[in-house]
Amino acid sequence: MCGIIGCVGRGDATLDTLLGGLANLEYRGYDSAGVALANESVTVEKKAGELDALREAVAGQTLHGSVGIGHTRWSTHGPPTDANAHPHQDCTGDVAVVHNGIIENYQSLRDELAEAGHTFASDTDTEVVPHLIEDALADGADPEDAVRQALSRIEGSYAVAVVVAGVDAVFAAREDSPLVLGVSDGAYYLASDVPAFREHTDRVVYLEDGEFARIDADGFSVSSIDGTPHDVTIDTVDWDPEDTGKSGYDHFMLKEIHEQPRALRQCLQGRVDELGASVSLDLDVDIARVQFVACGTSYHAALYGAGLFRAAGIPAQAFYAHEYALDTPPIEDDLVVGVSQSGETADTLSALREARRRGARTLAVTNVVGSTMSRECDDTLYIRSGPEIGVAASKTFSAQLAALNLLALQTVGAGDEDLREVIAALRDLPGDVQAILDSTTAEEVAEEYVDSDGFFFIGRGANYPVALEGALKLKEISYEHAEGFAAGELKHGTLALVTADTPVFAVVTGNDEAARKTIGNVKEVEARDAPVVAVTDGKSDVARYADHVLEIPETHPRTAAVLANIQLQLVAYHVANALGRSIDKPRNLAKSVTVE
Ligand code: M6R
Repeated sequence: MCGIIGCVGRGDATLDTLLGGLANLEYRGYDSAGVALANESVTVEKKAGELDALREAVAGQTLHGSVGIGHTRWSTHGPPTDANAHPHQDCTGDVAVVHNGIIENYQSLRDELAEAGHTFASDTDTEVVPHLIEDALADGADPEDAVRQALSRIEGSYAVAVVVAGVDAVFAAREDSPLVLGVSDGAYYLASDVPAFREHTDRVVYLEDGEFARIDADGFSVSSIDGTPHDVTIDTVDWDPEDTGKSGYDHFMLKEIHEQPRALRQCLQGRVDELGASVSLDLDVDIARVQFVACGTSYHAALYGAGLFRAAGIPAQAFYAHEYALDTPPIEDDLVVGVSQSGETADTLSALREARRRGARTLAVTNVVGSTMSRECDDTLYIRSGPEIGVAASKTFSAQLAALNLLALQTVGAGDEDLREVIAALRDLPGDVQAILDSTTAEEVAEEYVDSDGFFFIGRGANYPVALEGALKLKEISYEHAEGFAAGELKHGTLALVTADTPVFAVVTGNDEAARKTIGNVKEVEARDAPVVAVTDGKSDVARYADHVLEIPETHPRTAAVLANIQLQLVAYHVANALGRSIDKPRNLAKSVTVE
């Protein structure tokens, strides 16, 4: 999704600070980028395509200004062209605006402005904002007031940053789209996400919806859009700039796959007591019934989480957040849990807001401290993965599964299972994941099947979400067709697509009824000549029917799902790598989907 950076106080380094900030936001996904620098006038440069195109465009130019804003755009209104890239300007060229989100009443504003003589240079909704500011300035408002007046006319979601010629300040505001302020000695920053300026400061102010910020050489102020001053807290982020580097790995995703032992350790740290067989989260919730809302990979984690609660006898269901908001199920005394890596996914936020509107208590399970979800929900459980830069979720999925285990164990227990054994298995997870990373043959499997016509993934019970996630991961980063199924479902239609050129990845752990039935499904695809890759802990005899085996260490049935997923992440990574795909920034995808 779009990224914003703004800064003051960086002197001659202003342009480099903006370009560096945009580079750090690339992971969010984008298709054009631009910057505006302001002094007595405003200079804008913007280009469709990768950041390098913008770097080339500004090279050799004299872009001066002690204040500036920058943007990476992920198209919503109009294709990714130079003209549609941000910043957008007014008719005089004195105002430049970058914007994340969607202005819902832009068409009526645009008609009104065009009627009054304004000319538009892009197809975007954003462009109405500089023209509204221009009108307010023409009516005599001072620049800050002009920005406030323009914002008061806008309906929809936004994070905006604005520069005006002759004003050494950046103005910004948010409504339903994240914006964070960075504070250091003599320099101030505004961004959609902390990595944009983390190398310059670790002191941040998370802005709330409806807040307006001004940064200038003398400091910063935060107020409501209509000007009422707000007191704010300066937080300190608890991760280092190096945490957002590649540390020698070819891709962020590979680095993040390898960071999973650490991510899991962090998630569990101080929360499980193996001796006392107890879990203690800094959370005080009772759960009689639970509804999960989430999207994409987080939805797969939610499906897994719902299974944990049902196993303990608690009514639990996982919903796609975008469907939930439209077709909300009856809420009794349900806790509604939003699962979201970013804590900013618009669909999940909408579902949680609907649940709150109906009186439900809400809990966010998220990775991002200060995210909108964590601030809007009644409670938050952090998964503590550290920053994830690759667009495809990897370590955050594993940590979501671990965190949902902790949530279930603390609130409703382990059902018929031995709590002590579950806790021991959770404690062993980091080491078990490391063992897989050290011994995996996923790369060989990927090389064998990279040219296949399609890929199927099957699993039952806790391995069903793993099958879904295995297919999603492969699709996202390799662009190959892949589908995940509850193992019993394949024969109800999709078996027609199974051939000798469609490998089937079967996740079979343990040796219970689910495993035995899945092996039956494996035999069905084998009979249709499909190659079979078994992901297994070796407890069943599935290996007998498989062409390849991806082994996982023996563990508890709950944690087997976490381990099996690691092998499938590696298969997806190596297939995508063999095909030369853009693994960290897959086409059309964004890290944080802040539009519905
Ligand atoms: O930030 P969230 O976890 O709420 O994001 C939800 C999905 O957009 C996300 O999981 C998406 O499916 C990722 N690209 C998965 O790799």
